[in-house]
Amino acid sequence: MIDGKFAILAIESSCDETAAAVVLDGRQVLSNIISSQIDIHKQYGGVVPEIASRHHLDNINHVVQRAFDEAGEKRAAETGVPDARVTMEDIDAIAVTYGPGLVGALLIGLATAKAYALACGKPLIGVHHIQGHICANFIEHKELEPPFMALVVSGGHTNIVEVTDYNECHVLGGTRDDAAGEAYDKVARVLGLGYPGGPLIDKIARKGNPEAVEFKRVFLEKDSMDFSFSGIKTGVLNYVNSEQQAGREISVPDIAASFQQAVLDVIVAKTVQAAVKMKKDKIVMAGGVSANSKLREMMAAECAKRGIKLYHPSPILCTDNAAMIGCAAYYKYKAGEVDDLTLDAIPSLPL
Ligand code: KG4
Ligand code: ZN
Repeated sequence: MIDGKFAILAIESSCDETAAAVVLDGRQVLSNIISSQIDIHKQYGGVVPEIASRHHLDNINHVVQRAFDEAGEKRAAETGVPDARVTMEDIDAIAVTYGPGLVGALLIGLATAKAYALACGKPLIGVHHIQGHICANFIEHKELEPPFMALVVSGGHTNIVEVTDYNECHVLGGTRDDAAGEAYDKVARVLGLGYPGGPLIDKIARKGNPEAVEFKRVFLEKDSMDFSFSGIKTGVLNYVNSEQQAGREISVPDIAASFQQAVLDVIVAKTVQAAVKMKKDKIVMAGGVSANSKLREMMAAECAKRGIKLYHPSPILCTDNAAMIGCAAYYKYKAGEVDDLTLDAIPSLPL
């Protein structure tokens, strides 16, 4: 315990960020260390699973130590005690992402968390990565409580989730092929923008005309809350090829803006429709793509029209981090959901 608050050491290693955090009572973050491998994977145009695992292994102990050091520094600043420290003795439970994600990457975080739990006699709490993304909102919006409608848009997931309580949710829809972030990353590659594509498209689209090219909006069956984004990647590729074959110069900002508009028109419409249908007056966005400035603008405008309150975390808590895992773990612990050392990595863990 720290100041009478339940202290969790959280670990996240499901993809290409090695992360550790110290979180108090679920919503107060003492430290949030993220060691990103983006520069390493950039040269391959995407995450290489084997390389990700090796780097997690190299980094994890150091990242955990930094999480303790930074938590100590924060305590020192808050209490005025210059040598205030946070150590494993202050920690009440160890939280870790156990799926979904890359199996080799997950295993590094999981083995580390289990080793600490066993050696220090602390309870172990396995967290679903997507649950973590949603919980990132609780950290920054202290007044936020379920129920609400959540939109999870990341490199690996696109889901509309009805959150009825801290540990209870129903997936209403998901992608049938590519995730939204995956579509951004693939289109960015076609446009020669680099990796990861989401933030690059977000930026360059600001200079383009979203109506320049009419890409197909895929709504699927009437009232379906599912998504399909693989067609738009092919649409962009075909458009670029045909323009180049005709000897016409392409405008990357126009294509980026038009692609983004097509994807976001569908995402925003379906999420708002889900909230209205399920009578929710709050929408919570989560995952890497929820950092997108145009998505935030469009969703805010649609929510304002319908009196729906919109929440999203600041960009650092949108992408992968361990603070969100610590937050989710706190609510699991309060509900008595604790794991033992048989907890295993589940790469395609359902929500
Ligand atoms: O949540 P996250 O860090 O990892 C997964 O769990 O997948 O999300 C990473 C994804 C990448 O596809 C990245 O391109 C996308 O989030 N992303 C963005 C933006 N920032 C990150 N997509 C669109 N606009 C952004 N500003
Ligand atoms: Zn993620």
